[in-house]
Amino acid sequence: MLQKTYIRHLKDFIGKCVVLSGWAMRVRASGKVCFIQFRDGTGFVQVVAGITDVPSDDFETIKHLTQESSIRVHGKVVESPKAPCGFEIVASHVELVSKTENYPISPKEHGTDFLMDWRHLWIRSPREHAILTVRHHIAQAIREYFDSRDFTLVDAPIFTPNECEGSSTLFATPYFDETAYLSQSGQLYMEAACAAFGRAYCFGPTFRAENSNTRRHLTEFWMVEPEVAYMDLEGDIELAEGLVQSIAKHVLDKCTSELRLLDRDTKALEITANEPFARISYTDAVKIIQASGAPFQWGDDFGGPDETIVGNHFNRPVVVYDYPAEIKPFYMKRSAENPKLVRNMDILAPEGFGEIIGGGQREEDLAVLEAAIQKQGLSPEVYSWYLDVRRYGSVPHAGFGLGLERTVAWICNLPHVRETGAFPRLPHRLKP
Ligand code: 4AD
Ligand code: MG
Repeated sequence: MLQKTYIRHLKDFIGKCVVLSGWAMRVRASGKVCFIQFRDGTGFVQVVAGITDVPSDDFETIKHLTQESSIRVHGKVVESPKAPCGFEIVASHVELVSKTENYPISPKEHGTDFLMDWRHLWIRSPREHAILTVRHHIAQAIREYFDSRDFTLVDAPIFTPNECEGSSTLFATPYFDETAYLSQSGQLYMEAACAAFGRAYCFGPTFRAENSNTRRHLTEFWMVEPEVAYMDLEGDIELAEGLVQSIAKHVLDKCTSELRLLDRDTKALEITANEPFARISYTDAVKIIQASGAPFQWGDDFGGPDETIVGNHFNRPVVVYDYPAEIKPFYMKRSAENPKLVRNMDILAPEGFGEIIGGGQREEDLAVLEAAIQKQGLSPEVYSWYLDVRRYGSVPHAGFGLGLERTVAWICNLPHVRETGAFPRLPHRLKP
């Protein structure tokens, strides 16, 4: 049987009788009436069961309902301006589907470590449900953005023979007689794909063996990576700005109740959706960091705290461009004006959230790229297929990667990325 009525659609059923299938979160009984906090996965609603409205057996069952028991509720939808969803259900019949004993997550406060151990159950709670719903809508906005702009989705492999973002964060795994690495980024494959499709993107999981316990690092995260032939850094920045604006607009439009539940002040999201982003060079960003008193030298890479300082300087996302080549991967396009710089960019989210996008123009000159591969001590044989993209019809091209979890953390204003996915992978967390 396919269920037809969900809490999400109750506004279409005012005054009508419905059957809802779901779970009892909490029950309050007061002599002649019971109130069930009920959820069905699409929303939350209060069920009111009066002693004279339901059969007496049902009333006994309801009175003794335990947290997270599964039930089917038959009842009438009535408007209730005080209820968060605007409705409640006046029950006529409640069926017990399965009784729960000793649900481990009680309504009292729990520490995050405890809750992470029970993540498979914790995702049922309204707050986690709201975050994961926002994530769903962000992913939807991302796909819509690229699909409506002539991009072709090209899936990048997960097993790869080479690094993309530095050997220190590679997960290696035996692959018959060889060693494979879990993909750090689909970029190199998208560079090949953009020569086939003009505009290509991949959207999938990527991996970094980053054994650092920060609020921004996961070992497995989702990245969307567009790549466009005949595009320079300026075009890349425009594409990335448009994407982040679309995400903010989509979430403001579709996730009002989730943002309210998360107590999210939406001012920064509104500015993001409607106004151009700030833009500064790496060199100017260094000046902002130095002015704050932090011991930072030109040529250093930004750490999380440095990004926070730069990001906090603006009330909107900021694009930082033209970093020193020394601290960046081999594939970045050298600046024509200053060979010490590359034509790349990062986008830092406002409100101290730091980098959500990294990308830029790629080196299209075969000889320059070969020299960079050599200089970084990488094997030219392993990258031979990648160099073919330069050997056969090389063109200027650019792209970027947006990290989904960092974006969710910022949009939902979360202190840590660990709540941005249903089953996050962190250095010390492989379960559940
Ligand atoms: O800046 P990154 O390393 O860039 C690349 O991987 C490029 N190859 C992308 C491209 O140009 N196609 O990573 C891109 C984004 C970061 O801005 C961040 O949002 C996210 O990926 N990211 C992480 N998110 C969570 N945990 C981690 N350990 C992350 N590392 C990067
Ligand atoms: Mg980066």
